[in-house]
Amino acid sequence: MFSSKKSAVSVRNAVKRYEGGVLGLAGVSLECRPGTVTALVGRSGCGKTTLLNLCGAMDFPTSGEVEVAGLVTSGLGDAALTELRRTKIGFVFQFFQLLPALTAMENIELPLLLSGAKNPAAAAHERLGWVGLAEKAESLPYQLSGGQMQRIAIARALVHDPAILVADEPTGNLDTASADGILKLIRRAADEFGAAVVMATHSAEAAAIADVRVRMRDGHIESVDS
Ligand SMILES: Nc1ncnc2c1ncn2[C@@H]1O[C@H](COP(=O)(O)OP(=O)(O)OP(=O)(O)O)[C@@H](O)[C@H]1O
Ligand SMILES: [Mg+2]
Repeated sequence: MFSSKKSAVSVRNAVKRYEGGVLGLAGVSLECRPGTVTALVGRSGCGKTTLLNLCGAMDFPTSGEVEVAGLVTSGLGDAALTELRRTKIGFVFQFFQLLPALTAMENIELPLLLSGAKNPAAAAHERLGWVGLAEKAESLPYQLSGGQMQRIAIARALVHDPAILVADEPTGNLDTASADGILKLIRRAADEFGAAVVMATHSAEAAAIADVRVRMRDGHIESVDS
């Protein structure tokens, strides 16, 4: 299912060479459209996280170009980059990355507080309900299961209605049942909110929810199926 809308992420012939000379990406081009899920698959070290970091404006290509929400990331100063990440991009990680001293609700609210958004509590409550954990608002992360922590992390990632959701092995640390629930939410992020989801995964179940599967090998895109 391909949207005809303009790409939310456009990667054009991106090469990423790390300090020390390791080639993370050897020339990759990719378009991610609103309302679609793109899965990056391939064995460990093939470049999935490297490509995700470029898509999330967390890192930059050594050559080539990455455009995120209409902005070429390499040309942006620190303030513009921070603004781009805080307003247009949501991040989900394998190990959840919740702040342990903050409640579920506070974790979800935090991105809005940082960006100075109006009425952060209302938006955070809405997303908490959306991930099905309204009753856990006051829980601290250690009081939650892995699946519940990842739900909170997804609520946090989506609280500001990002155009792009970047997910690195979002089910890599979860049992099958919890993973299934997380994948449903990720699918709904694209379907209901129109996010362009880019997800790196080793899981066949996760790849199965994608509209586009990008198979990587040694820093290259080997094949794309949609
Ligand atoms: N910060 C870094 N400095 C130097 N080399 C790096 C760095 N990050 C990644 N690499 C190298 O770049 C290549 C791609 O790594 P990357 O983390 O993108 O792989 P991956 O596909 O995400 O692997 P995995 O499935 O294990 O998460 C690897 O050879 C890796 O060792
Ligand atoms: Mg990785």
